[in-house]
Amino acid sequence: MFLSTNLHLFAIDSGRAGQNRLRMSNPSDQASSRREFLKTSGKIGAVSALAGVALPHVHAAGDSTLSVALVGCGGRGSGAVVDALSNKTGPIRLTAMADVYKDKLDNSYRALSRGPVATKVEVAEDKQFLGFDGYKHAMDALKPGDIVILTTPLAFRWVHFQYAIQKGLNVFMEKPVTADGPSSRRMLKLGEEASARNLKVGVGLMSRHSRGLQELYKRIQDGEIGDIIAMRGYRMHGPVGSAFSTKYPGKPSELMWQIRNFHSFLWASGGCYSDFYIHIVDHLSWMKNGWPVKAQALGGRHYRTAPDGQTFVDQNFDSYAVEYTFADGSKFFFDGRCMNGCNDIYSSYIHGSKGSAVASRSGDCGLPSSIHKGQNFDRSSALWTSEVKPDERNPYVNEWNALIDAIRNDKPYNEVKRGVDASVTCSMGRMAAHTGQEITFEQMLNHEHEYAPGIENWTAESAAPVRADADGKYPIPTPGVVKNNEYEPTKA
Ligand SMILES: NC(=O)c1ccc[n+]([C@@H]2O[C@H](COP(=O)([O-])OP(=O)(O)OC[C@H]3O[C@@H](n4cnc5c(N)ncnc54)[C@H](O)[C@@H]3O)[C@@H](O)[C@H]2O)c1
Repeated sequence: MFLSTNLHLFAIDSGRAGQNRLRMSNPSDQASSRREFLKTSGKIGAVSALAGVALPHVHAAGDSTLSVALVGCGGRGSGAVVDALSNKTGPIRLTAMADVYKDKLDNSYRALSRGPVATKVEVAEDKQFLGFDGYKHAMDALKPGDIVILTTPLAFRWVHFQYAIQKGLNVFMEKPVTADGPSSRRMLKLGEEASARNLKVGVGLMSRHSRGLQELYKRIQDGEIGDIIAMRGYRMHGPVGSAFSTKYPGKPSELMWQIRNFHSFLWASGGCYSDFYIHIVDHLSWMKNGWPVKAQALGGRHYRTAPDGQTFVDQNFDSYAVEYTFADGSKFFFDGRCMNGCNDIYSSYIHGSKGSAVASRSGDCGLPSSIHKGQNFDRSSALWTSEVKPDERNPYVNEWNALIDAIRNDKPYNEVKRGVDASVTCSMGRMAAHTGQEITFEQMLNHEHEYAPGIENWTAESAAPVRADADGKYPIPTPGVVKNNEYEPTKA
């Protein structure tokens, strides 16, 4: 479990996944708290007219205050704000927020303005933006060199990132960053453009900032467990998030409802496979020092009825078993399951020719990591166990400290390629399970099926990219039948 500092005022919901997500309650007195805030906070948020200007290095001199805008005010976005504003290297403020749901924005604002970073939350009412173009207004409220946090479902990531680059903003974006081939290729190009403009970009694959995994990586590269022969990753627990949905209730619009239940839809999140499993896929690939070149997989949906008898209509399987292969032929086996009453495992392991290692002891990247004699992981076989200073045990805070250090001290910093590679690796495994075919990394990256075409022009009334059939069900994968796509695309 990773907790941000000073949590006495409000809760971080680290859940089973150890995620820094802000838990927000319903705002009964939200209006009065906002009035209260406005009385005390004064005027903030300079609007910049410098759109499209490349960023040399704006924080070296003059005003060192970093302003932050949050786009996507859910659990993770609000948690990321706490991690960002907890940074102690200089003045930093949250000054703008955007969401497509009013209750989400209000809950986030309320929790943040009462939580441990409350004194740094300076979001005036006219800097709280609702709607599909809210991201533009929130970024327009920043000046070049400030930071925007992109924590909507992944489908919007490239659209928002593109605008951030245009505005000369540094970016923190959550994982996964893509679910399909076309947006992966687009994101790679945008990542290069961000570097060319000297923008710093963090991607929320926080395993990379785990001090235990960083030390394990060095030791593995130094040959302490010999050649890696096989790796195993597991995330198996009961249903979580919005992965399993019953029928669309008829309001709000079908698109807005799918956004609210984004884990159910491959276009929005890459489904439970990409959204839940990416951290273990990412850190085990890191330990191997490369990305798998291909995948074959099994998967299925055993239960399509909720305990109350309603039919599930989402696009996910409830079990996945993916065999990834690296260029040297070595294997990485990943098992994912969302099912109650089964053996829960949530951890990752590495088997080498001279020994073995535990990467994540529990959760996405839970400390400690360890190296063992032989292939058993009991205490008596441990040769090394990671020891991490208390103030560096939270990788969510570490990743923000690294990003802000790069911004303030003008160090090269761009995690986009890694984010895209990890996302494509997830999509490759997911597609292998969904089609019943072997899928290569190159096939996935170059695939032409775009899951959310035209997303840059959407409004709340736009047609959803997948639509329900007469029974209220959405297109599901049919391995061995639909082999070239993960599901039959909805006809326009
Ligand atoms: N690194 C981690 O450990 C971690 C943990 C949790 C979530 N995440 C990632 O963070 C992202 C958000 O997840 P979450 O759990 O916070 O979900 P959430 O539903 O709590 O938050 C998403 C927010 O984005 C808003 N939104 C949707 N479309 C939008 C748009 N076009 N413009 C503005 N706002 C929009 C939603 O209304 C919602 O408030 C996902 O990509 C998820 O995978 C990462």
